[in-house]
Amino acid sequence: MRHVFVTEETWEANWKCLLENFMEGYHLSRVHPQTLGGRTPTQLCEKLPGGETYTGYRAHYPEGAPLRGKCHADLTDLEKSCSTLFSVFPAMVASQASDVLVYLLLQPEGADRVRIRWGMALYDSDMPAAEIRSRIELWQAINAEDRNKLARLQTALHSRHAVSGPLAPDDFEGTLRDFYGFLVKRLGPRQKPGTSPAKE
Ligand SMILES: [Fe+2]
Repeated sequence: MRHVFVTEETWEANWKCLLENFMEGYHLSRVHPQTLGGRTPTQLCEKLPGGETYTGYRAHYPEGAPLRGKCHADLTDLEKSCSTLFSVFPAMVASQASDVLVYLLLQPEGADRVRIRWGMALYDSDMPAAEIRSRIELWQAINAEDRNKLARLQTALHSRHAVSGPLAPDDFEGTLRDFYGFLVKRLGPRQKPGTSPAKE
């Protein structure tokens, strides 16, 4: 694929919330009704097996949806009819379709700010400039939708009314379970307030 775009931004968000948001399909139809809702609707998401340092899911396209642009001849019908969203913990998330790859690299700047380098690569080396521009604009719109939601979430997390809740079924939020497993292993057992950490 050919790298066609890269930019850097600072979002008012906790980096873990950003990773969670990117890596669950539960929000696609709700947060992205115009940009993604019809292309990768929530109900067609399918969790992939995760590992200690990665997770992913398939966002299947609706039946009858037109195939995306030019792609490698070795791709299967399945690979051409879904996007695969994956994370390599702790600081990279990506969305890969048959003809396009979008990645976000996260560099936390504190609990409520994260520096992001994100970019796009395309398979079709002959794609007209206008089409490339339109692909970039679509992802700028998608990222703007998430960025806005994450900024509001960052405010809401400080509310005394903010409570935790259960995860949605694995196809929608199982990727977050994989991420939490990674964090638990890195952070160790939770300490009770007023106790000192074990020496070992
Ligand atoms: Fe999103």
